[in-house]
Amino acid sequence: MKIEVIQADITEIQVDAIVNAANTSLLGGGGVDGAIHRKGGKQILEECIAIRNRQGGCDVGQAVITKAGNLPSKFVIHTVGPVWNGDKEEKKKLLADCYKNSLELALENNIKTIAFPNISTGIYHFPKDKAAEIAIQAVKEFSRKEEFEKIIFVCFDEENHSLYKNLQDN
Ligand code: APR
Repeated sequence: MKIEVIQADITEIQVDAIVNAANTSLLGGGGVDGAIHRKGGKQILEECIAIRNRQGGCDVGQAVITKAGNLPSKFVIHTVGPVWNGDKEEKKKLLADCYKNSLELALENNIKTIAFPNISTGIYHFPKDKAAEIAIQAVKEFSRKEEFEKIIFVCFDEENHSLYKNLQDN
């Protein structure tokens, strides 16, 4: 199993599944959520609405899966990160849950290659350095990580990219 850190637009990554930093409504938004819905097309939103009708949306730390519409990946795993407001411990666990639950859901769908954005570090203001440590730690601690061929951290901005590269090299 390889862990990679790249700087790219996640909507252009050709893997089995890309992970979306969604919100609890699953109805789209800005940031990476907006990019995925914009480029993926209406099929993604239609499947998200069907999930909403079934289970009422997605709780923070949880994950749901849809096809990927016009995107190069096969699936999109939508997970909802915590909004940072300083109460470190609870939010730390919820952010780690995003990565672990997305990986669990990926294995349930025979997904072998998966790409994550830097969840919660944009509109949700999670400090990038803390989020990077949590993300890498959560993936490293995931007991069944060897069942994946590749796990990619896709950083959109330079700050996240250098944080992840430094953590990966240590
Ligand atoms: N590819 C990869 N990463 C991206 C892309 C992209 N195309 N666009 C943005 N990002 C990065 C941001 O730079 C940030 O580092 O994704 C990370 C997460 O930022 P947001 O997309 O703002 O997500 P988040 O902070 O988790 O906030 C989620 O924002 O878009 C809304 O509906 C979403 O309400 C939810 C909230």
